[in-house]
Amino acid sequence: MIDEHVFICDNEERVVDVERTVYDDVENILRPKSMDGYVGQEKVKDNLTIFMKAAKLRGEALDHVLLYGPPGLGKTTLAHIIAAEMGTQIKITSGPAIEKTGDLAAILSNLNDGDVLFIDEIHRLRHNIEEILYPAMEDFSLDLILGKGPSARTVQIPLKKFTLIGATTKAGMLSSPLRDRFGVMLRLELYSTEELSEIATRSAKTLGFEIDKQASIEIAKRSRGTPRIVNRLLKRVRDFSSVLGHDQILKSDAELALNRLDIDGLGLDATDKNLILSLIQKFGGGPVGLETLSATINEDKDTIEDVYEPYLLQLGFIGRTPRGRVALKRAYEHFGLPLPKSLDEQLTLFDT
Ligand SMILES: Nc1ncnc2c1ncn2[C@@H]1O[C@H](COP(=O)(O)OP(=O)(O)OP(=O)(O)O)[C@@H](O)[C@H]1O
Ligand SMILES: [Mg+2]
Repeated sequence: MIDEHVFICDNEERVVDVERTVYDDVENILRPKSMDGYVGQEKVKDNLTIFMKAAKLRGEALDHVLLYGPPGLGKTTLAHIIAAEMGTQIKITSGPAIEKTGDLAAILSNLNDGDVLFIDEIHRLRHNIEEILYPAMEDFSLDLILGKGPSARTVQIPLKKFTLIGATTKAGMLSSPLRDRFGVMLRLELYSTEELSEIATRSAKTLGFEIDKQASIEIAKRSRGTPRIVNRLLKRVRDFSSVLGHDQILKSDAELALNRLDIDGLGLDATDKNLILSLIQKFGGGPVGLETLSATINEDKDTIEDVYEPYLLQLGFIGRTPRGRVALKRAYEHFGLPLPKSLDEQLTLFDT
């Protein structure tokens, strides 16, 4: 959600940050508008297409949908596409933006049949507000308590049959009554290099410039499986390419730009390196608890879990064990470090 974010521009900003930043000013332009333009996530798309078709056939609203997964993978984009494909309006808000129960009551009672209500960061809804959602989602009813004390009474106001789409990076933080009320739960996965390269090519086209296939692959490889990062790196690479006077972005432009930005061949930046090297050099490869790791590299626990770890886990650089994080063989190899004798022992932790 654009309005809730405060864009702070400073030189410390990570170019490979998956959170929205000042670099993402054209994000809305680059959002695909239909399922066809939405690259990858085939399983999610297939399922959604069937559920939408069925809802349309029955002339009903689509069941409530929960989209979850790391930032920048296309949850907001997908919510817009669902509304567009269902031919309905979308109202957008976010967990922290709804302060009073009356705010949510007003939003809900203004929805029409089939409308999509998109609640971003739904895990951050206040508890009393969440409780208004339960009957609204289940029975399309707004249960309001009027008055206080013995004279208090409940009034029930019927609502139109809407679709709630919740988005979260932390499905685990949703209360179970809320989670249980979603008929459809879809997890977005990190994208493959091929998919990210396709996104780079499409975005370049939308923004009106050419990119060589090899250049788009180079950007894709360094984008941590995340479309938002592809779009951001694409813009930085284009700057270098323009200054060099090229009318098409070449692979060499991408390499030059990304190396200058200190993004290595796998998209790792200084914080990733710090995390892995601390794990290896200060903790003998682990296992080390998230708290300790967070204090050591001076990075917020949630940020480590939501932003850094998904990609490092996917690369097979680190593992999560019941006793904490461990560095894996590939991480040692990538940084050219000798493998410790204890590595096999650490791997047995996965079985416990
Ligand atoms: N499947 C996709 N195909 C093409 N472009 C995509 C796709 N998914 C995301 N994008 C691009 O990535 C950008 C970020 O996507 P989006 O804002 O939907 O992510 P998000 O999951 O909602 O992130 P957050 O958790 O931070 O809210 C969008 O501008 C969009 O252009
Ligand atoms: Mg979003």
